[in-house]
Amino acid sequence: MADVTKRIGLSLGADICWPICYESIMERLDLSIGMKGDRQRFEVERVTIEPFNLQQPVKYDVVIDRLTHWYHTSREWIKKAILLNDLYVYNNPWSLQSNEKQTSYAAMMRLGLPVPETWMIPPKAYKNSADLEPTLKKYARLFDLAAIGDKIGYPLFMKPYDGGAWVGVNKIDNADELRAAYEESGTHVMNLQKGVLPYDYFVRCVGLGPQTRCVNYNPSAPLHDRYMMDHDFLPEEDRQVLEDMTLTINAFFGWDFNSCEALRSNGTWYPIDFANACPDSQVTSLHFHFPWLIKANIRWSVFCASTDRPMRANLDWGPYLKVAGRDLDPREKLREYAKIARKDLEADKFERFCKKHLGHLDEVADAFFGSDVARDAVAQKVRALFPPHEHEEFTELFWQRIQKAREVERAS
Ligand SMILES: Nc1ncnc2c1ncn2[C@@H]1O[C@H](COP(=O)(O)OP(=O)(O)OP(=O)(O)O)[C@@H](O)[C@H]1O
Ligand SMILES: [Mg+2]
Repeated sequence: MADVTKRIGLSLGADICWPICYESIMERLDLSIGMKGDRQRFEVERVTIEPFNLQQPVKYDVVIDRLTHWYHTSREWIKKAILLNDLYVYNNPWSLQSNEKQTSYAAMMRLGLPVPETWMIPPKAYKNSADLEPTLKKYARLFDLAAIGDKIGYPLFMKPYDGGAWVGVNKIDNADELRAAYEESGTHVMNLQKGVLPYDYFVRCVGLGPQTRCVNYNPSAPLHDRYMMDHDFLPEEDRQVLEDMTLTINAFFGWDFNSCEALRSNGTWYPIDFANACPDSQVTSLHFHFPWLIKANIRWSVFCASTDRPMRANLDWGPYLKVAGRDLDPREKLREYAKIARKDLEADKFERFCKKHLGHLDEVADAFFGSDVARDAVAQKVRALFPPHEHEEFTELFWQRIQKAREVERAS
């Protein structure tokens, strides 16, 4: 039996809390996994930024990437490492680059998911370029913004077609507000989307590999209270719909880690935002749900490294489109999509792997989330985000929510 070291790289930007917890739990787990005749040990390392030769080898088996959606040197290193060195990375950088919010709307409409009516409009302003004037003069049609607003109906939302972090998002109640928001929108290319209002549930369903967690979400609360601490708050069928939806979206686009926002209105779940390159992983927003995320991340990354999960060379939309063309009711279709997604995400194999090799994770993580190292990780993140006079109060708040999660977990 050969000894093999599996290396997991963390490609990080401003992340503080979750990598500390991830690294500490991995160390405490002290994994030694027998796989295909080898004895696998695991090392975790943070990926550094430096010049690289395209032909140089890569020491990692898996990289968890949180940086390359905006930092392009690392993005190109990752892309070359996938192409030349068989690296497994989540999330897939090409899929993030090419499939923005609007693409994700179009794709899920094609699969028959009830994405609200959505339009795209040309931008209000442009950066100057040599071809701009002749192009616009020849081809850009004047359009009646208010007429589009009337067609969609109010309230509607104006938001960047590739947006995130609520930048440039406006709720619009009438034609005057629509005009004003468009005047303000500058060079952003905008979607107009029918508002799903009123709704009785707003849920963020986080998916990591085949694992999901539905979180009750309050978008109007301050950041630290948006993720609510409810658990088991959804009827099982609703939870299942959201899980099927999230896994379908994620597997369709090759996103291992993503969160899908959906609103329930008159009994229907409408997905409205589900192209998140770098889902929120901070204890200061996730708090009660933070231990789940860390464990889910450990399970999936270890599984991918240990089983040499291959990076998908291409996205394969064919099987989904085939189901889309079948004469099935919407719920049945979604079940069929989710079956394809689960297979793609190796859900059964993953479950067996976790049972066999990660049975001690819950216990180790539980002990860790009661430790000084965990509390200090929370404190470090709070210090980076809150003014000094709030450090103690918020460290204690998030800490107590984590303790509550431990309690709930133990009781289940
Ligand atoms: N069609 C819609 N119906 C109802 N509410 C909407 C709709 N679209 C957007 N919103 C509201 O606007 C918020 C921001 O929109 P959206 O999530 O699409 O943008 P974002 O920039 O990706 O935000 P974030 O990064 O916080 O998820 C949503 O959380 C929701 O409250
Ligand atoms: Mg959103």
